[in-house]
Amino acid sequence: MEKKSFMFGAAVTDYNFIGREEETRRLMANFSEGINTILISPRRIGKTSLVKQVKKQMEKTNKDVLVVYLDMFACKTEYELYNALAAAVLKQTESHAEKWLETTKEFLIRLTPKITFSPEPNADFSLSLGITPKTHTPEEILSLPEKIAQKRGKRIVVCIDEFQQLGELPDSLKVQKRLRSVWQHQQRTSYCLFGCKMHLMNTIFQRRNMPFYQFGDNIFLGKIPTALWVDYIVQHFEDRNRHISREMAQRLTETVENYSSYVQQLAWLLFSRVNEAETATEEQLRLSIADLLNTNEPLFMQQIEPLSAYQLHFLRAIVNDVHTAFGEQKVREEYQLGSPSNITRLKTVMLSKDLVESRGRGMLYLTDPVFGLWLQHRII
Ligand SMILES: Nc1ncnc2c1ncn2[C@@H]1O[C@H](COP(=O)(O)OP(=O)(O)OP(=O)(O)O)[C@@H](O)[C@H]1O
Ligand SMILES: [Mg+2]
Repeated sequence: MEKKSFMFGAAVTDYNFIGREEETRRLMANFSEGINTILISPRRIGKTSLVKQVKKQMEKTNKDVLVVYLDMFACKTEYELYNALAAAVLKQTESHAEKWLETTKEFLIRLTPKITFSPEPNADFSLSLGITPKTHTPEEILSLPEKIAQKRGKRIVVCIDEFQQLGELPDSLKVQKRLRSVWQHQQRTSYCLFGCKMHLMNTIFQRRNMPFYQFGDNIFLGKIPTALWVDYIVQHFEDRNRHISREMAQRLTETVENYSSYVQQLAWLLFSRVNEAETATEEQLRLSIADLLNTNEPLFMQQIEPLSAYQLHFLRAIVNDVHTAFGEQKVREEYQLGSPSNITRLKTVMLSKDLVESRGRGMLYLTDPVFGLWLQHRII
């Protein structure tokens, strides 16, 4: 496949993947030793990319560990999760479809799985198991990876993406207790749970009275440092015989506050304006930033649509560099924030919508820097 200069909107690997050495090392160690891991970050910083990259690396370097990846995003009920979990574990621990059938028969008796062969070459087989409360108890499904690991004499790491979805299931707390109580006794199976929506992830993992409190090694995935981005951008321009100064690559990165997916998107927008053998100009950078705001505008419009006037005023205050003194009378009047108790409420709501994040000592910032730019230029 042809290499893409810049990539965004999907997980990246290899040529488009940079940095994360420390996190990769830590995940590899946790996976090898069976330590549970919880990975949290804001949206589009690079969780999925990191875990997929580590899975690839594990497959190359440590044959005793099988890494299973599944995405919980589409699971809206407890049993949808069990079906997704069982299918992912069966498919990713054996390489042949015949083996899946054997293993299914051995461990999930009472099922006739349907394997669909997609007409497209190289596409995945889909495996639908039809697990329901009538066919299996939750415990039977949850113990599947452990049984396979025992039989194969290996360790299994189950990585569950968009795990915040667990907090949205009907009867969520009951399900959380169930998972935790089975998982904590498994010897050969460990878990890597990750997702965005900081607010929901924190509810699941950071509350003392919740089942997943202190479940494992908590990793907060931060931003990739500017110097790495600059090398990456300059090099990827050069690879296609185009040029950009290091100084401009740095400014590009800082414009979107090192937010992974936006750095790649903005670099792409700029790259696409530069002709072969030429060097990116100031005017081209300016136009690309406008492009970035335009392409994201429908999304941002959707985000502000349901907001009340107070909530918009609150965002306006933050965009104007108010991060902590919301309660001061001068600030409350200037930005029309209402009474002090109104401000407490505003903070809670905006945090739970993940539009703002706390960066220590009660300092609030917009979660998405480009949303901030857009508000500044187009709305406020
Ligand atoms: N290590 C990396 N090197 C280069 N670019 C990256 C890296 N990680 C992420 N990106 C960029 O960020 C984008 C989003 O990455 P990814 O989907 O892995 O993030 P995520 O945190 O899982 O997002 P979401 O919260 O939407 O699930 C990628 O498409 C890519 O443009
Ligand atoms: Mg992801």
